[in-house]
Amino acid sequence: MVGGGGPQSFFGAPHRRAIVLDNSAELTAGALRSKPDESMAAARELYFTRGYPDWTEMIRSEAELPESQRIDYVTIVTPNDAHFGPAAAAAEVGIGILCEKPLTRTLDEARRLRALVLAAELPFVVAHTYTGYPMVMLAREMVRNGDLGEIRKVETWYPQGWLATRREDEGHKQASWRVDPVKAGASGCGGDIGIHAYEFVRFVAGLSAVRLMARMKSIVPGRALDDDFTVLAELNNGAIATITASQITTGAENDNGFRVIGTSGTLLWSHARFDLLEQSVPDRPVRLYRQGSDYSYVPASIRPYLRLPAGHPEGFHEALANLHRTIEWTIRQSRGEPAPAPFEHPGIADGVAGMAFLEAAVSSASQDAAWVEVPRGG
Ligand SMILES: NC(=O)c1ccc[n+]([C@@H]2O[C@H](COP(=O)([O-])OP(=O)(O)OC[C@H]3O[C@@H](n4cnc5c(N)ncnc54)[C@H](O)[C@@H]3O)[C@@H](O)[C@H]2O)c1
Repeated sequence: MVGGGGPQSFFGAPHRRAIVLDNSAELTAGALRSKPDESMAAARELYFTRGYPDWTEMIRSEAELPESQRIDYVTIVTPNDAHFGPAAAAAEVGIGILCEKPLTRTLDEARRLRALVLAAELPFVVAHTYTGYPMVMLAREMVRNGDLGEIRKVETWYPQGWLATRREDEGHKQASWRVDPVKAGASGCGGDIGIHAYEFVRFVAGLSAVRLMARMKSIVPGRALDDDFTVLAELNNGAIATITASQITTGAENDNGFRVIGTSGTLLWSHARFDLLEQSVPDRPVRLYRQGSDYSYVPASIRPYLRLPAGHPEGFHEALANLHRTIEWTIRQSRGEPAPAPFEHPGIADGVAGMAFLEAAVSSASQDAAWVEVPRGG
């Protein structure tokens, strides 16, 4: 693991729980903070077998270990400006990568990382956590199966309220770097959560933005980056998409979701009811699919990702654990070890596409919401 150490850090802890959830993996090596002494201390406090002062030293040392002892993949859970460095270093020595979103700070970095990952044919997952929910995976399968007919429209959303006031002035660790363009990149809200909403377009609807117009606002005074993000996009099949995200939706609690609208039906998923997928078909009662390993409608591709029979909640940690399952099973299969077929969770292409989407949105917003092309293929 790179990042995620220290008493106030956020997302390293959910990743640690997700990694060990199935007792099929263990946390061994860590460069968990930016300062060498704190990084070593964090590794001790969190029971890592091998603590390192920084990620350069960790990747170099791990690459020198015999294959049976070295790390199988690295989880990168640092602020956005510290994704590219460790990811590129890992790719150069052939270590698989599960990287936080947004993939990098810039599209140029994302493209350079893609070249390294593809050249080495490495397992790579981008941590779009919500794509690990079985009902989101089911929605993807239903769209691919043609259950909705031709997709005409996609609506995705991600409202939060936690930055409705200047939390950065209170020394709030997560707020401080998220409003700083040097650490976060060219978009605040868009890069932090708009990118999750856009991934629903790619992962669930199987489509990509080709042109878009964006309004990116810094609604709370004094911010250099957007805290509100609204995009209207044309997709590669001619469909239309609205992608909205906000950090100033007072009182909102990560209730992201999507509606995919086709010629023969509509699918609706909301994080507030993550265990349900709603299908609307003309002149029929609304159908609710419910999460649970014993439902016969769960496709074989999703079944190994469910752990409990119907009615037992499997939530956010399980969704994140499912992304770790995907990279773990990819690695095991590549070694000829028995493992279920990994689901197609977001990979390097999605990471680059997300950065291309963000770059186009920033460009459009800076031209008073002019229509701009999204760079092709990222
Ligand atoms: N997928 C999701 O649902 C989700 C949710 C939250 C955060 N994230 C992403 O996770 C990443 C981290 O976010 P966070 O909220 O946990 O931030 P945070 O500020 O709470 O934690 C960042 C951690 O990285 C460490 N760090 C910083 N620079 C480092 C370096 N050079 N080497 C090693 N460690 C370093 C810090 O010490 C800290 O422990 C971000 O990219 C964010 O977008 C994703």
